[in-house]
Amino acid sequence: MPTIYFDNAATSWPKPPAVSAAVSGHLAEAGGNPGRSGHRMSVAAARVVEDGREALAELFHVSDPSRLVFTHNATHALNLALYGLLRRGDHVVTTSVEHNSVMRPLRHLETLGVELTVVPCTPEGTLDPDAVERAMRPTTRLLVTTHGSNVVGTVLPIAAVAALARTHQVPYLVDASQTAGAIPIDVQEAGVDLLAFTGHKGLLGPTGTGGLYVREGIVLAPLIRGGTGSDSAHEVQPEFLPDVFESGTLNVAGIAGLAAGVRFLLDVGIEAVQAHERALVARFLEAASDLAGLTVYGPRDVTARCGVVSFNIAGAMSSEVGLILDQSFGIMARTGLHCAPSAHQTLGTFPGGTVRFGFGWFNTAADLDAAMEALGAVAAWGAKGVAWTA
Ligand SMILES: Cc1ncc(COP(=O)(O)O)c(C=O)c1O
Repeated sequence: MPTIYFDNAATSWPKPPAVSAAVSGHLAEAGGNPGRSGHRMSVAAARVVEDGREALAELFHVSDPSRLVFTHNATHALNLALYGLLRRGDHVVTTSVEHNSVMRPLRHLETLGVELTVVPCTPEGTLDPDAVERAMRPTTRLLVTTHGSNVVGTVLPIAAVAALARTHQVPYLVDASQTAGAIPIDVQEAGVDLLAFTGHKGLLGPTGTGGLYVREGIVLAPLIRGGTGSDSAHEVQPEFLPDVFESGTLNVAGIAGLAAGVRFLLDVGIEAVQAHERALVARFLEAASDLAGLTVYGPRDVTARCGVVSFNIAGAMSSEVGLILDQSFGIMARTGLHCAPSAHQTLGTFPGGTVRFGFGWFNTAADLDAAMEALGAVAAWGAKGVAWTA
């Protein structure tokens, strides 16, 4: 049975060979602690970290790489931004399609006296910037939205939201977990103040990597404090970037792999990745429209989407479909609520959830055609209401 990996929205696989080579090469040859010592292995490790920062700066068009701080993942980056900025009495605006990595910190901050408005998106996951405008208050201190929905693949209008954030002089935090490495992002052109990203999805790096871009002029309190290898004579946290937010030894091996993933993408071109994923989404939508019993969520227009599609099959639970796809067809998909209950409420798919395919650079049209054939068989089975037999 072939392996068809359609769970790139959870984490990407396979990684380019250069990513594994960079991780193992670092561990074998340059495993010092970055910025902590003056010897050559420590210096080499620091160079790995700065090379990663420079690669990310090139990718996101950040002119000063020190404004990109490394985190363990997008969740860590989002928490850093949210807890670093929001205080009792502040008002924050978000959307109904956010991942729990945004929603849970915000719901917790509510218990600490932060006021929250969740702007409803349409059942297709689309956000109307005018609805965001109407939610603004004089106390609004932050706007936070995802860039691409991890449930339904809808791309939100971040440039329009950034424009209204600028008008109201309110910082704008974008969760680029599903779009970094898959859709071109220019933080300056888009007018984004804070960009949270994860390293292990579209950026093709290892798990345990991610980061936050912090625009000049945005002041955040650090989430944790501790050793940075810099300013060691002082017992208070240094205030300069990136050290203020990078306490504790970094995941240097992971960053080495992340840098290799980003450089792979810079060579391929993010536009090429976007075109490839769009072609797979278009092929999926086209084939799905001929399959009786298949309900696909989200916009029909592929230009309004990233490489994520969500669907259900009549007569079957999403978890059953996922199990059958894996065990009978070798297809890896994610099922259920995708850590985003509010997004499923928006779509009308709560609490059962959906089956999600997350496409990536290494998926092919042949993978997609095989998966559609499998979905045809599963849909025919769902219509009968009998036990599945492989
Ligand atoms: C939209 C979105 N935000 C945040 C996250 C959290 O990413 P990580 O697990 O890397 O922290 C994910 C991952 O599923 C996501 O899809």
